[in-house]
Amino acid sequence: MCSITKEIIDRDFIKALRLSVFAVKSNNMIIGIIGSGAMGAGIAQVAAMAGHKVVVYDNNTAALDKAKNSLTATLQKLQEKRKIANAAEIIGRFSFANDVAAFAGCGLVIEAIVEKLEIKKAVFTEVEKVVSADCVLASNTSSLSITSIAAACKNPSRVIGLHFFNPAPVMALVEIIPAIQTKSTLVPAAVDLMKEWGKTPVIAKDTPGFIVNRVARPFYGEAIRIYEEGIADMATIDWAMTEIGGFRMGPFTLMDYIGHDVNYVVTETVFQSFFYDPRYKPSFSQKRLLEAGWLGRKSGKGFYNYAEGSTLPEPNKDMVLGTEIFERILAMLINEAADALYLNIASANDLEIAMTKGVNYPKGLLQWCNEWGPDKCLEKLDNLYHLYHEDRYRASALLRKQAMGNKKIV
Ligand SMILES: NC(=O)c1ccc[n+]([C@@H]2O[C@H](COP(=O)([O-])OP(=O)(O)OC[C@H]3O[C@@H](n4cnc5c(N)ncnc54)[C@H](O)[C@@H]3O)[C@@H](O)[C@H]2O)c1
Repeated sequence: MCSITKEIIDRDFIKALRLSVFAVKSNNMIIGIIGSGAMGAGIAQVAAMAGHKVVVYDNNTAALDKAKNSLTATLQKLQEKRKIANAAEIIGRFSFANDVAAFAGCGLVIEAIVEKLEIKKAVFTEVEKVVSADCVLASNTSSLSITSIAAACKNPSRVIGLHFFNPAPVMALVEIIPAIQTKSTLVPAAVDLMKEWGKTPVIAKDTPGFIVNRVARPFYGEAIRIYEEGIADMATIDWAMTEIGGFRMGPFTLMDYIGHDVNYVVTETVFQSFFYDPRYKPSFSQKRLLEAGWLGRKSGKGFYNYAEGSTLPEPNKDMVLGTEIFERILAMLINEAADALYLNIASANDLEIAMTKGVNYPKGLLQWCNEWGPDKCLEKLDNLYHLYHEDRYRASALLRKQAMGNKKIV
């Protein structure tokens, strides 16, 4: 046998072995989705477009009807725009249920319900009663422990985190998070399946915020801190990050876009989950917006006012101030990425992919660190640390080691 043929057979064999972790191979497998909200409907669309039959379950009939209508409308629109040619066929792959019993034939069930640990645990316990012994159970949680969710199951080794980004049909990144109980074969099988769905998977350790929601925290937190100290106003900080930094959106515009009910709650959860590490400390400015119901764009007001007739404030385009703001926030972001690498939260490659594909950063933070040099980044953090004497500004040991050895970060 020629070596190329053997290699192909070996590769296919390994792939079949990985996929055999799932009950049924490839797109013959029926996918179950728990929760038909923004994420559940989006993931259902991704799975159906990849060729799977999809069972969507929600305990709220109105939410289920809404998902049914929006999925139909979205797929028809994609056909009108000639992005797909088989909308009716894909729509025919969905079924909608208000009873978990409908998951009986599924090979993979993905949960995307409200972000409350006890509710998720209860649903996993119920679903496990009706699915087959080899059905894989996944959670799309943004911030809860997969290990803790898995512990609610009789067979926790079948549970894994599959964290999609919003909107799921558009965003390529999926974070794959094994719980400490997850069987090892499930991770490569999940990687293969996500690739089949056209996604870009990365693997993250089961720690708060996984990769993106951990590493990105200073983009919001440090921007608010700079604003609270009166160093610059929001429009100037947004301008510095977009015009000087090359980020697609400034932090205040982005927080208003995400909504403070989501963005603030993730910050608070990450802070609590990290045993109150000051690096992730939430801000009163954002908490007050949440309390006032000023959730951002969706409520017409957040950090900015979006009411009709109102105009957004003008930035102060002082390049010295702008550069100081951008470099302070970037140094904090690089420090988070370096520390995540140091603590083996993800590989260097996956960290770079996660930040460029999950939140569209203009370049990977480790690459940015190398372009700056770890010494410049360390100097900025140490200056902040000396000024404030706050643990928030402590530099990662990796950054310090590499800077001292005059080496790149990776
Ligand atoms: N929205 C985002 O940007 C985003 C991104 C990534 C991950 N997530 C995570 O995805 C999950 C869902 O978020 P979402 O934004 O789609 O929420 P959503 O509020 O839009 O939808 C949640 C759905 O779950 C249903 N539900 C609630 N409790 C249920 C239960 N016990 N049984 C069955 N259905 C139930 C609700 O009726 C609702 O339709 C959360 O864990 C969230 O953290 C959200």
